[in-house]
Amino acid sequence: MKSNKLGCLTGSGIVAMFITLFLLVGIALASGSQMFSAGSLNTEPGQVYGGVYSHAQIEECSACHAAPWSTDSMADRCVVCHTDVAAEMSDITKLHGAIFQNGENFSCRDCHPEHRGADGLLTDTSGVLFPHDALGYSMNGHQGKEDGNEFTCVDCHPDGLSTFTTQTCLNCHDQIDIAYTQSHFLSFGPDCLACHDGVDKFGNDFNHSIFLFNLAGKHEGVTCTKCHLDARTVLDLKSTPQECASCHTDEHDGRFGKDCAGCHAVEGWKP
Ligand code: HEC
Ligand code: HEC
Ligand code: HEC
Ligand code: HEC
Ligand code: HEC
Ligand code: HEC
Ligand code: HEC
Ligand code: HEC
Ligand code: HEC
Repeated sequence: MKSNKLGCLTGSGIVAMFITLFLLVGIALASGSQMFSAGSLNTEPGQVYGGVYSHAQIEECSACHAAPWSTDSMADRCVVCHTDVAAEMSDITKLHGAIFQNGENFSCRDCHPEHRGADGLLTDTSGVLFPHDALGYSMNGHQGKEDGNEFTCVDCHPDGLSTFTTQTCLNCHDQIDIAYTQSHFLSFGPDCLACHDGVDKFGNDFNHSIFLFNLAGKHEGVTCTKCHLDARTVLDLKSTPQECASCHTDEHDGRFGKDCAGCHAVEGWKP
């Protein structure tokens, strides 16, 4: 597991620590016990971890807050209860593994705030540059919406951050261009992610001539599905045969062999 220490013992860390202590003591004196209510903790019950079924039931602040002199980070405290997250962190194919093995130095609190009240959000990624590419789908092709605003997480995850269905892709793209989207859907099927990774190499500036099989001559403008019947993945598209004879009937009943391209070109069968 990658450790995520805050590095308090640097020069600026120590200065910051003293400033914080000074402020805390000041606020404590000014407000009595008020300062200890940083805001109430979340009461939403769920599975039992560490003997409690919600954060609000945790009695010791130190369950989440390590003392300044401790070498523990907050993450070390959180995963004492959230052992499933600790396991995820060492598996790059899982959400928290992708997040923590991505190279960025995240801490749990970047995405999981607390003290926002009894039903306050426990996951809020709005303050971070969420490492979405690490989850297998890049935001590259989705820089700005039709109305000029940035994409938000709910645009693609309307039913919660850990759920995704390609119906969401369809719904939005139907609104943008229903004719294109529906014919595209009929051609290539519902599994958008089998071809799109978001980077996006099959987007607006798609150009077949970068592939081995150039769409020149009489092949120019031919509907995709005439050659790519029932293609559902990139592999299906790639494995389309390139020999003339696999798509065109031999008018010579085999007399001239299989090498049609030896006598013909895509400009026409004649001459
Ligand atoms: C379930 C874990 C958890 C428990 C228990 C908890 N806190 Fe926190 N606390 C947090 C998190 C997470 C943050 C960061 C919140 C944010 O950045 O939005 C935080 C922030 C704070 C802050 C703001 C200063 C800072 O470090 O950012 C104070 C003060 C604080 N907590 C005090 C307490 C006190 C006092 C208790 C015990 C009564 C307590 N906390 C219990 C998780 C917890
Ligand atoms: C003493 C054990 C304990 C500690 C320490 C603890 N949690 Fe929790 N946490 C729980 C319990 C219990 C729940 C509610 C059960 C559930 O939602 O399945 C919960 C719920 C959550 C949820 C919501 C889970 C969901 O399914 O919606 C998040 C996110 C979370 N904790 C993050 C943290 C973070 C971040 C820390 C450290 C700052 C932390 N927890 C520390 C026990 C703990
Ligand atoms: C870069 C953002 C990010 C960071 C950093 C992060 N998480 Fe999460 N975490 C998420 C997202 C997104 C979800 C999914 C939330 C949902 O489904 O609503 C999640 C889900 C969870 C859950 C609930 C689901 C589950 O798997 O049990 C817990 C508990 C949790 N995180 C704990 C932690 C802890 C502990 C840390 C620090 C070691 C941490 N997270 C760091 C983004 C983050
Ligand atoms: C343009 C659409 C789009 C947007 C916007 C988007 N996502 Fe995603 N997200 C996806 C796709 C596609 C996947 C991959 C789903 C799969 O592989 O099954 C995904 C996967 C995820 C997963 C992993 C789910 C899992 O079960 O492993 C999380 C967590 C997630 N996104 C969080 C976010 C967060 C947080 C934001 C906002 C910062 C966001 N997404 C914005 C499309 C999007
Ligand atoms: C079999 C592979 C495949 C599947 C599956 C697939 N696509 Fe595509 N998509 C492509 C290719 C290739 C292009 C570029 C050529 C074109 O425009 O037809 C493309 C282009 C697009 C474009 C860009 C159009 C433009 O010019 O701006 C959008 C939007 C799109 N697809 C959405 C989707 C959605 C939504 C789904 C799922 C319902 C989906 N695709 C499923 C291969 C696929
Ligand atoms: C909320 C609306 C919305 C959702 C949801 C959405 N898109 Fe898009 N998509 C757009 C817009 C708007 C653009 C044009 C963005 C641009 O030009 O910057 C776009 C662009 C694209 C492109 C072309 C990108 C390029 O580089 O040319 C493809 C392909 C695409 N989307 C596929 C998908 C797939 C697959 C999903 C589901 C994972 C999806 N979209 C979800 C609105 C959406
Ligand atoms: C005249 C036949 C023909 C037509 C029409 C055609 N293709 Fe292809 N395409 C091929 C052949 C053959 C291959 C496989 C050889 C290759 O990869 O160059 C291929 C490969 C592809 C690949 C995979 C390339 C790779 O290597 O990743 C994509 C994507 C593709 N075609 C999309 C399209 C789309 C979208 C259309 C419609 C605009 C289309 N094709 C029209 C014959 C055709
Ligand atoms: C993957 C399938 C595929 C391959 C491989 C292919 N073609 Fe085609 N070709 C087509 C399709 C589909 C059309 C359009 C026919 C239609 O619209 O009915 C076409 C049209 C043509 C035409 C226009 C006349 C006609 O028959 O409609 C010529 C000429 C042609 N191809 C020559 C060739 C030559 C020469 C080769 C080999 C270098 C070749 N094709 C390889 C699928 C293919
Ligand atoms: C040895 C040379 C040669 C080879 C190899 C060859 N052809 Fe031809 N093909 C011809 C000639 C010559 C014609 C007649 C051209 C004309 O009438 O001007 C012709 C005509 C055709 C025509 C047009 C028929 C018509 O009446 O419109 C088609 C279609 C055709 N060939 C398909 C193929 C296919 C498919 C292959 C590969 C299986 C192939 N040819 C291999 C020489 C060849």
